[in-house]
Amino acid sequence: MVVDYNKEGRIAIFTINRPEALNAIDVQTNQELHEALVDFRDDPELWAGIITGVGEKAFCAGADVKDMLPFLKEHRDRPRDFPPTLMRGLELWKPLIAAINGAALGGGLEIALACDIRIASENARLGTPEVALGLIPGWGGTQRLPRIIPWCKAAEIILMGKPIDAQEAYRIGLVNKVVPLAELMPTAKKWAEAICEVGPLAVRAAKEAMIRGTSMTLEDGLRLENSLFAYLLGTEDFNEGVKALTEKPKRKPVFKGK
Ligand code: CAA
Repeated sequence: MVVDYNKEGRIAIFTINRPEALNAIDVQTNQELHEALVDFRDDPELWAGIITGVGEKAFCAGADVKDMLPFLKEHRDRPRDFPPTLMRGLELWKPLIAAINGAALGGGLEIALACDIRIASENARLGTPEVALGLIPGWGGTQRLPRIIPWCKAAEIILMGKPIDAQEAYRIGLVNKVVPLAELMPTAKKWAEAICEVGPLAVRAAKEAMIRGTSMTLEDGLRLENSLFAYLLGTEDFNEGVKALTEKPKRKPVFKGK
């Protein structure tokens, strides 16, 4: 196994485990990560996920240049046969946190960009060096990065292929927080636990509205938001949220994801 998949209460933890290749994504890693993410999507007990890498050097050094890139080259006439990834094709409305424990380069940064929240260790370096290989980012980098950070910074990172450090990533809004390496997983778990305390169906609907909304007109986005809002009004969780807030004394809501 090259992806460790663990369930801790309501939190799923995905750890890419190929330290000999700085956690680069080969075909097997991609397959295992995809299968684990599908299980996470379909398991009603799991409400939030954390993706990280083994070791202190790398979150993920991108697509494996010795395995994945040759595989993709071989299939380049049939891009529909490219393996499914989190970055394209998998609709996943449960929230994901990237705990970036070192280099997040190329496909590695693109995995983090497909997450909703990014927490980086102080030693992290983030970038898309694909142009140095004569390629462009191929797992969503050209599309997600300019939607997440200002265009000129995205252009600097993508067109020059030079990585930036964790503090610069924080300054430009590419990561939510920078912490010492030893605090990375505890911090990511704390954030995941905080997300698991609020209404899970609401979190998923909010993520869906945010992501689908980026490719909609404002009018269509407002319509989508309205329909998701109406759906949530009919859930048990909404009743529970209002009850917990209005009861005397106030109490924490106990959400069921129903
Ligand atoms: N694929 C396969 N193996 C990789 C790898 C990758 N992307 N990145 C690193 N490795 C391997 C190295 O080949 C090396 O293996 P050996 O010990 O067997 O030689 C091992 O990991 C350690 O790497 P380095 O010796 O290079 O370690 P370093 O500390 O000197 O440098 C690094 C670290 C800066 C991350 C450097 O390894 C590097 O630049 N890696 C490549 C990053 C890259 O170009 N990523 C983009 C890939 S393309 C892509 O991702 C396309 C897409 O959008 C889908």
